[in-house]
Amino acid sequence: MSVVIKTENISYIYGEGTPFEIRALDDVSVNIESSKIVALIGHTGSGKSTLIQHLNALLKPDSGRVLFDNKDINESKKTAYDIKFKVGLCFQYPEYQLFESTVFEDIAFGPKNMKLPKEEIEKRVIRSCRFVGLGDQFLNKSPFDLSGGEKRRVAIAGIIAMEPEVLILDEPTAGLDPQGKEQIKRLIVDYAKKTGRTVIIVSHSMEDVAEIAEKIIVMNKAKVSMCGTVDEVFSRADELIAMSLNIPQVTYICNELRNQGYDIPAGIYTFDAAVAVLTKLGKGK
Ligand SMILES: Nc1ncnc2c1ncn2[C@@H]1O[C@H](COP(=O)(O)OP(=O)(O)OP(=O)(O)O)[C@@H](O)[C@H]1O
Ligand SMILES: [Mg+2]
Repeated sequence: MSVVIKTENISYIYGEGTPFEIRALDDVSVNIESSKIVALIGHTGSGKSTLIQHLNALLKPDSGRVLFDNKDINESKKTAYDIKFKVGLCFQYPEYQLFESTVFEDIAFGPKNMKLPKEEIEKRVIRSCRFVGLGDQFLNKSPFDLSGGEKRRVAIAGIIAMEPEVLILDEPTAGLDPQGKEQIKRLIVDYAKKTGRTVIIVSHSMEDVAEIAEKIIVMNKAKVSMCGTVDEVFSRADELIAMSLNIPQVTYICNELRNQGYDIPAGIYTFDAAVAVLTKLGKGK
């Protein structure tokens, strides 16, 4: 599996030299493999948002390097500028950053910065808007007249329209209702499947992570403390709990039933997997 982004021993301090100095990243080395959905989890303040802002040169490490396709992204001003189009970053609550008068203009903002021809911009805007599940009738609306979930999708469409090789979403389902959360999750999975591109999501929901991620990176107190498949990470429940994290609820239930002697295998992390083993168990009785 090829590595698309790599951090080598990066450290970052906010407010260095002031009484408010905070070491937000401490010697962080991670490999992001291409064509995967990667989840970044960790307790609040562990450094997740700081890390992802390093991946498109929005923040520059105090020490260490960030490599994209084996090239230091901070090597020159030009590489640091160009990386913004290759690694698209959607902030937490991106709907607060919509500012154009129409949905069309908002989605077109990134492609315009890329200096693409007008027709190409138009094509990408229409395609991205449809991709996030909003019909063409939305294009002329004001973003301020949309619901929270719709605004979020417009913001994501704006990043997708740049066709970045890596799409990073910071807490994409935070604050949405259950239906809105489902829509965003489906969108992420569809996007990864259809484009074959890499997606990194920051999430506090272990259920969402278990459902859609192929790889998990766990941060704890400015460091990477675990990195592996869903199975590898969620099988270390005690360590996760010690970091104020959790495992999916269904995993607790299945583990408890197994402890009580029921024939349930380890490694049940999703609702669908739990339903399948419980149904089988029920039929066997
Ligand atoms: N702009 C900033 N100035 C000063 N300190 C900051 C700034 N942004 C973050 N920090 C601090 O850096 C540390 C890491 O913050 P970061 O936002 O990366 O954490 P996080 O894992 O994304 O947390 P959350 O889950 O709450 O979003 C925290 O202690 C935070 O208070
Ligand atoms: Mg954050």
